[in-house]
This record gives sequence, structure tokens and C-alpha cells, in this order.
Amino acid sequence: MMKRVLMVCLGNICRSPTAEAILRHRAEELGLRLEVDSAGTLDHHTGERSDPRSIRHAEARGYQMTHLARQIRIDDFHEFDLILTMDRSNFLNVSRLRPASSKAQIVAITDFHPDDEVEEIPDPYTGGPNDFEEVLDLLETCVDQLLRELKKT
Ligand code: 4NP
Repeated sequence: MMKRVLMVCLGNICRSPTAEAILRHRAEELGLRLEVDSAGTLDHHTGERSDPRSIRHAEARGYQMTHLARQIRIDDFHEFDLILTMDRSNFLNVSRLRPASSKAQIVAITDFHPDDEVEEIPDPYTGGPNDFEEVLDLLETCVDQLLRELKKT
């Protein structure tokens, strides 16, 4: 069965749309059929394109950033199998929203990073170019491991 994966961060304009773009790109390269989307816990940026800095840095590595921001909704907990969060507060916020009837797994995306000391994807919103590059480096590593595990299922 096709797996459905939702990436979630705070604003849905930096980290989670980047994670979505990387996962979609790499799954396509592997010929793995996945449904991928992203959302934020905030609704401040609903309908907006991703942060121009995220778009620029991701596109420089070949990822297409076409997502329009949206807030996570209760239906997501029934429509996705796997909900991947970017940091601790994100994980707690999403866990609190989860209805008891949801079968979705909520997992910190950094659980897929081989370095146990990496526990969060740092929010780059108030940062500089290096912070956006770090987000890409961390997410690429997490997504590669996620795909290795999804290929086994
Ligand atoms: P993101 O970054 O969660 O990676 O999309 C943020 C973007 C916007 C805001 C916070 C984080 N904001 O508060 O507007």
C-alpha cells in the first residue's frame, strides 16, 4: 500500500516544505510511490509560498519548492500514516492535537538521523544562509534513512 507522509513544522514555510520537497524528489528517484505533504502548527502563513531563502537554498540542490503553506488539521491524523515533526515543541504540539482514533504514527524526523546527538531540525527563520544549508544537510540525511526503512516495508 502507498505510504502517506506528512512533514510538520511551526510556520510551514521553511523546514517542513523543504523536507517535503526532498522526500518527494528522492522517492521519485528510487521509483517509490509515496504521498507527501507538509503543514504547520501555526496558521500565520496559510496560502503563502515558502520562505524565499528556503526556496533559493533548496532549488540550488535541485529540489522543487512549490508548496503553499497550510495549517495542520484533524483530518490529517486520519489521512496520513506517518507524521514527522521537526523539533521538540513541534512534536508536543502535534501529539496534543492527535485524536484518540488516529492510527497515524507521530515521529521526530531526527529519529532517522544516525547521530543520536541530533535531536531537532533548528528553526532557520531568524537565521542566516548557513542555517538554511544546515537544515538541508540534516533533512537530506534523515530522509535517506527514512527511505531505506520505507523500502523494507
Ligand atoms: P518553519 O519556520 O517552522 O521552519 O516554517 C518558521 C517560519 C515562520 C515562523 C516561525 C517558524 N513564524 O513565527 O512566522
